[in-house]
Amino acid sequence: MKKRLFTFIIGGLTAALIGLMIIQSYWIKNAIMVKEAEFIGGVKRAMERVVFDLEKQERARLMKEWYTRMGYDDSTRMAMVPQMMDPSVFQSIINPNVVLPIEQRINAKTLDSLIGLELQNQGINTEYEFGVFSKNRYVMAIQKTGKYPDQLLNESYSIGLFPNDLVGEVNYLLLYFPHKNRFLISRLWMLLSVSIVLVLIIIFSFGYSLWTIRRQKKLSELKNDFINNMTHEFKTPISTIALACEALNDKDIAGSGEAVSTYVDIIKQENDRLKKMAERILQSASLEKGKLNMKAEEVDMHQVIENAINNIRLQVRNRGGEISLSLNAQEHIVKGDPVHLTNVIYNLLDNANKYSPEAPRIRIETQNTYSELKISVQDRGIGISKANQKKIFDKLYRVPTGNIHNVKGFGLGLGYVKAVVEQHQGRIKLESELQKGTKFDIYLPLLKK
Ligand SMILES: Nc1ncnc2c1ncn2[C@@H]1O[C@H](COP(=O)(O)OP(=O)(O)O)[C@@H](O)[C@H]1O
Ligand SMILES: [Mg+2]
Repeated sequence: MKKRLFTFIIGGLTAALIGLMIIQSYWIKNAIMVKEAEFIGGVKRAMERVVFDLEKQERARLMKEWYTRMGYDDSTRMAMVPQMMDPSVFQSIINPNVVLPIEQRINAKTLDSLIGLELQNQGINTEYEFGVFSKNRYVMAIQKTGKYPDQLLNESYSIGLFPNDLVGEVNYLLLYFPHKNRFLISRLWMLLSVSIVLVLIIIFSFGYSLWTIRRQKKLSELKNDFINNMTHEFKTPISTIALACEALNDKDIAGSGEAVSTYVDIIKQENDRLKKMAERILQSASLEKGKLNMKAEEVDMHQVIENAINNIRLQVRNRGGEISLSLNAQEHIVKGDPVHLTNVIYNLLDNANKYSPEAPRIRIETQNTYSELKISVQDRGIGISKANQKKIFDKLYRVPTGNIHNVKGFGLGLGYVKAVVEQHQGRIKLESELQKGTKFDIYLPLLKK
């Protein structure tokens, strides 16, 4: 039920996010359309101005020729020109140029600078290509560069040239903008970039939340396992002690000194076990708070290894296994805490023993590398899969074994090992293959002399 609700919420959130993004892109598209309409308006106004200017210029030229031919001087001419400037006035005078082909009436360079100027006035500063198309002859009479001929015919803005001509050829001015979309988008970059950043922030936060939720869920599962495990492990010694106490209460047994000492021994042993377990858990708690108090003494690691082996040798022998040693390092003194370092080696040996289903064969080797001491602990046990190799150093993590949980543990050992090694400026490496065995390599910096 809870899980379904969770899936439902995630699904709803995802849908809402996608919906928002669609709406957002719709608005952006709208904004681009508005900008495009503005752009088209600007182009149209610029082209109208160009057409008007062309007529004005041609007329001024004709007038000048005419006056010169009539022999007027400059001052008279200046006085007359302004009233003749309006093309509609000029309409009534027969324009002799209408019979000329358009390329002789318009100079490409002049036209280009005129178009450039008018576009600039409309705030349109992107590359353009223009052409003058003669409808009667069906040819492109003038072109700026000769590029984009097809686009110029099919995707351009057009306007009739010399609209006040009464007779003669019909010509069009065509204008094409090869980077129109880029120009429009550049006009909207603020809106676009803010939207993109916002959407990215939302996606990132959403992903991060999902990731955190998943991690928390896993962690709480691990903690559940841990608590079950711990209760289980504490229960056995507690009930053993309870049984022993009951026996000691028995009058018959209380009379026999031998029996009493047996039961007292049992109680002591079980009590030791409880103490060790409590210590291990406390250790990892202090690990979490980040205050493992480390001494910094000169420690002989070969001695440490011997000590650790003494703690576990009996268990290994009882299972028919053996621990072989090859202490090859010439230099084996490091600076550190002897108790924690012993725990490190002991934890590795304990795992090697626990995770070897048959008689454990454990090998410890030391070696000097350039400035480090390398300690390898190798077993021929069940091995660890690649996927799990990354996780086993996490606190509380234990490789899932389905229903069979015959190997006891809290999943605290390797996290502790790694923390201690790293506090000694060392590092730990792992090589393992399923069913073949596992090798942990610890590198510790040697004491400098
Ligand atoms: N030598 C090994 N061979 C196979 N698996 C191992 C070995 N050492 C550790 N593991 C795996 O890594 C897990 C974490 O180890 P550890 O932190 O020591 O926890 P614990 O021993 O309490 O389970 C173990 O549960 C086990 O699955
Ligand atoms: Mg362990």
